[in-house]
Amino acid sequence: MALKKCTSLAVIAIAASIWIGCSSKEDKAKYDTFYGSGSKAREESALTALQAERRTAIEKPAAEVAKPASGADSSKAAPAADTTAAAPAKPAGRKAVPAEVSALLNKHACLACHNPYDKVIGPAYAEVAKKNYSVDQIVELVHAPKPEHWPGFPPMAPMTHVPKADIAIIATWINTL
Ligand code: HEC
Repeated sequence: MALKKCTSLAVIAIAASIWIGCSSKEDKAKYDTFYGSGSKAREESALTALQAERRTAIEKPAAEVAKPASGADSSKAAPAADTTAAAPAKPAGRKAVPAEVSALLNKHACLACHNPYDKVIGPAYAEVAKKNYSVDQIVELVHAPKPEHWPGFPPMAPMTHVPKADIAIIATWINTL
């Protein structure tokens, strides 16, 4: 056990020293080509210059990123930011709601408590779909909810005013999720 630990520590130490060795060799090559290899003093001043150059290189992109928000580039930068923001907001598998279903969900205010894929006050319709109800069962459940199906949720009020034909359209869509 102890031996294994020592071995892995040694491997890490070797890897670290190789990495340090590589980067310092690279630095030396870089300032040798710029300044020529010379006395230790010259090398030291060259290294200071190199470090200063690196600092500005790190600070510059940060300043450039901050600029477009108020600068003239903002129109160009905005669409790029939108596409990256939209990708995680709409993960694969989330389908757009068909216009006819969307109209009914709006008309009967189902969207006040339900979202196709996210829990709101009521469960996500995608979760309802996992219950594998028939269309008729869903129609009945909207007219006469059974809150015991959803522990942890408040009871849904019976919505008997919603025509069965409308619920059937919604139910058929729920079962496609
Ligand atoms: C005021 C909030 C609210 C509104 C409006 C609402 N629901 Fe619900 N719904 C819930 C809640 C909370 C649950 C879970 C508890 C329950 O079933 O009583 C639920 C559950 C459901 C279920 C699952 C039933 C089950 O037993 O598994 C379906 C299907 C459903 N709603 C459809 C609809 C439809 C369709 C509409 C629009 C006509 C609608 N809901 C409007 C809050 C709401």
